[in-house]
Amino acid sequence: MPDQTFILNGRKVTVKAPDHERLLWVLRDRLGVTGPKYGCGINVCKACTSHVNGKAVNPCSIPVGKLDPSDEVTTIEGLADHAPDSGSGDLHPMQQAWIDHDVSQCGYCQPGQVMQAVALVRRARREGRSITEADLDQIRNICRCGTYQRIREAIKDGERRMR
Ligand code: FES
Ligand code: FES
Repeated sequence: MPDQTFILNGRKVTVKAPDHERLLWVLRDRLGVTGPKYGCGINVCKACTSHVNGKAVNPCSIPVGKLDPSDEVTTIEGLADHAPDSGSGDLHPMQQAWIDHDVSQCGYCQPGQVMQAVALVRRARREGRSITEADLDQIRNICRCGTYQRIREAIKDGERRMR
């Protein structure tokens, strides 16, 4: 099996895996990084949402062989330590907003929701604006527990806290 090399949560990793194996299973089964959740496996539910080079992606749809050694994969485990907008606390400001708004129920979808939220705020900022209700309407991460209203409130608060 070929070696696959990329940067995971700030650390260079090399792991043996077939080129076609999807990044989600490399993370979860070969590297033991279980923050990105397996929901559908076909790029629909968004439970696995993580970042590649700072943008939200679904690792269940990315063959690991497509990654370059310089590509930076960030999962919820590395968000607080490796995000440039994380500030100096133990948690990323979006994670703290999640706690303060008591968003989670079962929690299964929540790592993906937080990663999506951070990417959404970053995208709006690149465009020189704040997030809008329309942005929030476009989030496609599924929550089986129905926490959507609290997610919306937490994202707005997290945006205010992100530097
Ligand atoms: S598990 Fe990746 S989108 Fe559903
Ligand atoms: S909190 Fe249970 S699936 Fe979202």
